[in-house]
Amino acid sequence: MLENKVSLVTGASSGIGRAIALAYAGAGAKVVVSDVDARGGEETVALVLQAGGDATFVAADVSRPADCEALVQFSVERYGRLDIACNNAGIGGDQAATADYPLDGWQRVIGINLSGVFYCMKYEIAQMLRNGGGAIVNIASILGAVGFATAPAYTAAKHGVLGLTKTAAVEYGASGVRVNAVGPGFIHTPMIAGLEADAATAQQLVALHPIGRLGTPEEVAQLVLWLSSPAASFVTGSYHPVDGGYLAR
Ligand code: NAI
Repeated sequence: MLENKVSLVTGASSGIGRAIALAYAGAGAKVVVSDVDARGGEETVALVLQAGGDATFVAADVSRPADCEALVQFSVERYGRLDIACNNAGIGGDQAATADYPLDGWQRVIGINLSGVFYCMKYEIAQMLRNGGGAIVNIASILGAVGFATAPAYTAAKHGVLGLTKTAAVEYGASGVRVNAVGPGFIHTPMIAGLEADAATAQQLVALHPIGRLGTPEEVAQLVLWLSSPAASFVTGSYHPVDGGYLAR
């Protein structure tokens, strides 16, 4: 499905990003695995290689524009082009209601979850235009569509990711660059391990999903894979929940 394609995944050392890197590689793409966590990144690369794929790790902090530019440059130097990018790196951030939310926590979440997506898109799109097109998938959240008490920065950043996604889709649709966003519900990954550790909170989270359980990283990766592939050739500028019915309630 993605033979001869070159892909890039940010936040690919863990959770959803790792599952996406494995899905891309499984479909035949070469994968640039990127993250601030080098150890986890090398583990992801090892998993791809074990499965018969081709991947390379490169460290990049998406809140730093120079890192995002270097990441795209690395992809081109290593594999010659860039066809697919999944901007997935993100943090949960502090949990506090808006009036109590720490100012530095706000800057940190916006810097990684929103500005990080913009920086990556800026350099990815420029390269995709050079090689005649491409597909970008931004990992937003159900909290890109609705509010959530005690997560003002995260919710604002994810809503912002939808704005970036739609704007770039309008700007570059005619140039062959498709841009979409995916909105996972709560997914079993290290990001929510703290929440799941408390049995009552874990039960409350499950109750928010009509399907009766949380999701897996692989279930998110399947949607991302499809959106990144030629099968989604008429799909751009849209937001795709993968949320066990969370937003249907
Ligand atoms: P995770 O914590 O397992 O993985 C996130 C990865 O991003 C980690 O490897 C981390 O090192 C990396 N990262 C953090 N800051 C970074 C930075 N500045 N630059 C580069 N990499 C950085 O979390 P998970 O759950 O896999 O999250 C992936 C994405 O999915 C995030 O954008 C998150 O907001 C989103 N998401 C997760 C949900 C969940 O319930 N787990 C629900 C909805 C969205």
